[in-house]
Amino acid sequence: MNALTRSAAAYWNSSIGKKLVVAVTGLAMVLFLAGHLTGNLLIYAGKEAFDEYAEFLHTAGHGALIWVARFGLIVVLVLHVWATILLTRENRAARNKYEFNATIQASKSSRIMIWSGLTVLAFIVFHILHFTVRTNSHLAEIAKESPYEMVIAGFSGGFLQVLVVLFYVIAMTLLCSHISHGVASMFQTLGFRSKKSASLIKRVSLGYAVVIWAGFVSIPVAILLGFVN
Ligand code: HEM
Repeated sequence: MNALTRSAAAYWNSSIGKKLVVAVTGLAMVLFLAGHLTGNLLIYAGKEAFDEYAEFLHTAGHGALIWVARFGLIVVLVLHVWATILLTRENRAARNKYEFNATIQASKSSRIMIWSGLTVLAFIVFHILHFTVRTNSHLAEIAKESPYEMVIAGFSGGFLQVLVVLFYVIAMTLLCSHISHGVASMFQTLGFRSKKSASLIKRVSLGYAVVIWAGFVSIPVAILLGFVN
């Protein structure tokens, strides 16, 4: 083991090292969400604009860019979940050891984070099967012609799509609760939170989460209600 690997391992073994991993990977995913939302909002600009954007995503860098992004996202997601699990275990062990409950408030909020995080994880799996892998052969056929039409068909047409939209709305709501807590603790971990800036950070985190929520929820709902077709 060389010196660099040893110090990386020591950092990972420390609680602040893992917190930093959660914060930095969280930041990467928060930025991905802003980009993904901006691209998805092109659905309101019409079929041509959305399909052109999808074509660009799949062909940029001779098709390599999307795979680099996918690989990066998977690494970031695995590190985020893994470091969170280890931190939760450490916190639990410390609480049992000292039989001391000063962390009731913190553990309540982290319990919410675990459940919202798990729902988002389930959503990501469903979403990738829905629009990237396209396990529904009808959607897969439509996607060959137009990604725009695939998204429209994914959120409209029948009772099943109503359930899909409902699941998206619930998942987006939990995602945004997760982001609002997460962005605030990210600022804290990165050392930007002081008594003075605490309320500003809270408002910025909440504001960001609300914008992301409104943008993402608007798409399936607008399609289901027939405003985009
Ligand atoms: C209603 C909102 C959303 C819509 C309409 C939407 C739309 C899409 C579409 C059309 C794709 C397929 C891209 C392609 O392969 O051609 C996709 C992929 C993806 N989306 Fe979303 N998305 C939404 C929300 C989200 C959210 C909230 C997340 C994260 C929590 C997310 C994460 C992803 C990921 C990770 C992929 C896979 C990228 C890839 O490997 O191709 N999406 N989305």
